[in-house]
Amino acid sequence: MSQAPINLRELLARRKKGYSLEAPFYNSQEVFETDMEQIFGKHWIYVGVEPDVPEAGDYMTIQIGKQPILIIRDDDNQIRAFHNVCRHRGSRVCTHDKGSTGNLVCPYHQWTYNLEGKLLFAEHMGDDFDPSKHRLAPVHLKNVAGLLFICLAENPPEDFQHLVDTMTPYIAPHNIANTKIATQIDIIEEGNWKLTMENNRECYHCTGNHPELTISLYAYSYGFAPSEDTDEGVRQYEEMVKERHAKWESCGLPSAEVDCLDSTISGFRTMRMPLDKEGQSQTMNTQVACKKLLADFADPAIGGLSFWTQPNSWHHFMADHIVTFSVIPLGPDKTLVRTKWLVNKDAVEGVDYDIENLTAVWNATNSQDRFLVEESQKGSMSPEYLPGPYSPYTETLVEKFSNWYVNRLTELLGD
Ligand code: FES
Ligand SMILES: [Fe+2]
Repeated sequence: MSQAPINLRELLARRKKGYSLEAPFYNSQEVFETDMEQIFGKHWIYVGVEPDVPEAGDYMTIQIGKQPILIIRDDDNQIRAFHNVCRHRGSRVCTHDKGSTGNLVCPYHQWTYNLEGKLLFAEHMGDDFDPSKHRLAPVHLKNVAGLLFICLAENPPEDFQHLVDTMTPYIAPHNIANTKIATQIDIIEEGNWKLTMENNRECYHCTGNHPELTISLYAYSYGFAPSEDTDEGVRQYEEMVKERHAKWESCGLPSAEVDCLDSTISGFRTMRMPLDKEGQSQTMNTQVACKKLLADFADPAIGGLSFWTQPNSWHHFMADHIVTFSVIPLGPDKTLVRTKWLVNKDAVEGVDYDIENLTAVWNATNSQDRFLVEESQKGSMSPEYLPGPYSPYTETLVEKFSNWYVNRLTELLGD
């Protein structure tokens, strides 16, 4: 793509708060490369779940920009991450998306590493060769109650510990370690990753676009802030939330809102929200989609715990299943959205759950969201595109995403 050079610092400095970003943030190759280096290269990135690597020797690979990464469970059951780059002449060591192995054997010349990344074997290297100088390079990994985050920076943001400490009690009751991935669906959106994230951070578009998702959602949840003519509806909703939170918290389910989306480097938000009608799950009939629950919940109507992170994930935890999303940029106008549905690992497909029923709401919603993101991308290419104002009632969390992004880039790029 040939484009005139842009002055990114100037674009950041003149950014108008409360407005969407200028076009180059969505379609320039240069901004994309900066995003990969500064945002995806220096923050904690959500990449998968413990059940991606359920047994010792199980691995998964993922590509973050130019960097191939390997995630593996070692013989002591510790999950580790490495650069998937052989210390001989740089081949990728694991070439499949997923697999299981006793040792890591490079396909090129069979250098062989153990699951802790130590080089065990390298033929024809001579007497002076010291294998201990050629370990696989480690990548920082944190397991947050079963959600796996990696950080490619040498010194990852330390405030991630606040996220870990806050979120562990919220997520732990949903028992991720005791789940399996019922299914994973990858979609590629022809749009910039920030449009995907911004779209995720508001439900202004839900009524007009998501007939399946809105069956279980209350209109006043998901980022809705009171305006004068809706005060009564909001008041009633807030009353109900207060009541439900008291009930759920008395059963050991933390529920209160925590929001540091744009106030910390490792920004996040969480809240357990009531679901409408039966109140059990984000399904077409709002009842559980899996008969075997994730834990011994006395009543499956525990709504949905939502968890959003900067820069690339969101998650919904219910009594019967978990839906988890990671966003990986592939190019200025190409983004991978990876969705996993987790159920109790003892649940039997066709007996306890049906994949179509389990995935119906979010499959439909993802495809509607893809359309919205792709249309925004097309519009942002026009010379007539101008940053437009966010709704102060329904797009406050979008604004927090773009605040976070602009602040992080401004700070990291310096003067
Ligand atoms: S590049 Fe891996 S063994 Fe040669
Ligand atoms: Fe949506």
